[in-house]
Amino acid sequence: MTLSRLVLLALAAALCFQLATGVRLPSAAALRASSNGKGKDGYVNERPIIGILTQPGDPAPKGYSYIAASYIKWVEAAGARVIPIMYDMTEQELQDRFATINGLLLPGGGADLRPGHMFYDTAARLVELAVAANDKGDYFPVHGTCLGLETLSIIISGNTSILSEMDAEDAPAPLLYTQEAQHSPFLNALPPHIVTNLQNQALAMENHMHGVLMTSYEEPANRRLKDFFKVLSLSLARDGLPYISTMEARKYPITATQWHPEKNAFEWVTSLHIPHSPDAVEMTQEVANFFVSEARKNSHAARDALEESDMLIYNWKPEYTGRVTRGGEEQDFEQTYIFGPPDNRLAGRKQQQQQQEGCWWRRQMAKLLAALQA
Ligand SMILES: *[C@@H]1O[C@H](CO)[C@@H](O)[C@H](O)[C@H]1NC(C)=O
Repeated sequence: MTLSRLVLLALAAALCFQLATGVRLPSAAALRASSNGKGKDGYVNERPIIGILTQPGDPAPKGYSYIAASYIKWVEAAGARVIPIMYDMTEQELQDRFATINGLLLPGGGADLRPGHMFYDTAARLVELAVAANDKGDYFPVHGTCLGLETLSIIISGNTSILSEMDAEDAPAPLLYTQEAQHSPFLNALPPHIVTNLQNQALAMENHMHGVLMTSYEEPANRRLKDFFKVLSLSLARDGLPYISTMEARKYPITATQWHPEKNAFEWVTSLHIPHSPDAVEMTQEVANFFVSEARKNSHAARDALEESDMLIYNWKPEYTGRVTRGGEEQDFEQTYIFGPPDNRLAGRKQQQQQQEGCWWRRQMAKLLAALQA
């Protein structure tokens, strides 16, 4: 491209940009660190974004995927924004999102946890990226909730039979701390009374049919799980067998809870006994504070503000899936974000872009700005 064409392009873009929005895009640097170097507690980023993996199945229609809005509200309440990661994304899309997010949340649900199933394979790839990033000194936190803990257990142990069936549905439980809990960065970051409340009251909302028995964790065949994760707490299934309710990686900022910290403040289905006491809701907030604080130690960022806004959850609207007139599983979630299959997703996005941005030139301008900064 000749210089004159470039100048023309820039002028046209600037004009169009002015007309379209009247605003300037913040630079990539402005999206990232708000302080120079490491701030208090190693924070390098006061605008953290959490990536949350979508999953197929109820309440999403066939071919679609979902995130229960409670997970999104949970991290938002602690000062983070959310980017959904569709379980059926390509490798390139996953890498682009990974380079933009500051932490990963693997939520609960009922997806198939076997290699060859897209949800599992995508989760495994994201965990691989997270471990590799941390190995390179790129601090990147991961938290798994319920199915998220189960997914992490299979990925790390490499054993698809590590889960046991158990009866712990609708079973808020106290946490039985292990010796290792004393030296846990996660538990030590929580206010001490939260740790005590989790022990003395049934604040941890357990709601699962599978889990990792302590006996499975101790089996020599599952050595890889034990080498990677330490167990911070156990809880008891209805038949009295102890299973892992909280764990934390030995060398990585990776935590997992079989219980649901997000439900206490944000889910209201009356067929479940979700704890809603002030102590229960305070716990929800403090666990979110911990996870989001971890994400503030990561400086991944989108290439520019437009790319970031294209990915953010604000492009979608939640549905009221918990309405009493609805039936089945979907009622478990008060609000749910539903994501279309890849084709549908693109169509939706193109439409949205036409409405919201309207201008091809704006995109070119953003590219030009990014090129100038590089
Ligand atoms: C997987 O875990 C189960 C449950 O602990 C155990 O019985 C089995 O031996 C393990 N399988 C392999 C291949 O390691």
